[in-house]
Amino acid sequence: MTVSEIIRDRRTIREFNDKKLSLDIITELLDTAVWAPYHGLPEPWRFLVFSDHGIDRLSDMIYQALSQTERKEYGDKLKKHLSTVPVAVVVVGKLDRNQKIMDEVSASVSALIQNFQLAAWEKEIGVVWKTQSYMHTPQISKSLELKSDEKLAGILLCGYFDKKPLKHSRNPAVSRTIFIKE
Ligand SMILES: Cc1cc2nc3c(=O)[nH]c(=O)nc-3n(C[C@H](O)[C@H](O)[C@H](O)COP(=O)(O)O)c2cc1C
Repeated sequence: MTVSEIIRDRRTIREFNDKKLSLDIITELLDTAVWAPYHGLPEPWRFLVFSDHGIDRLSDMIYQALSQTERKEYGDKLKKHLSTVPVAVVVVGKLDRNQKIMDEVSASVSALIQNFQLAAWEKEIGVVWKTQSYMHTPQISKSLELKSDEKLAGILLCGYFDKKPLKHSRNPAVSRTIFIKE
């Protein structure tokens, strides 16, 4: 598949099958993903990769970081879902007091995550990019032993899958574009 075909074909995958996903492949995907552009802070990311019993540890950390209401609403469901996830990649981004730099970090981390998703899709590996409210809690930063200048930027749940979800439609870009020629 060409890059354009992979971009158009990729879907978010939320249900994984039992096929083992090797950590060598995850490392290879991350090594591709880090070719994302960055500006200001160089390569403002690092990764924590959870698999096997590590997934249970991550699941416990997330559960602890949920509010009472969140636990009641979806705590058990979330734990159950996480127990089916072969590998979870926690993307840690840099924090900075300067808003411009923070925006640049966020942009480059997002580019990195999309690179990861596309490289995974090429290998028929599915990914869901998670950003949930517990990620902003001091509790999860503490459990993950993040430094004071780091934040949890996103969690990528990865695995092989049986069913590809139906395509979400996209509006033609031209319907949202103004061409200014003069
Ligand atoms: C910044 C960001 C955060 C996301 N967070 C979640 C999430 O927390 N849970 C989830 O199921 N999907 C999440 N997604 C996936 C989107 O729901 C998905 O990309 C969107 O529905 C479009 O579907 P597609 O990726 O198959 O084209 C996130 C996507 C982005 C870009």
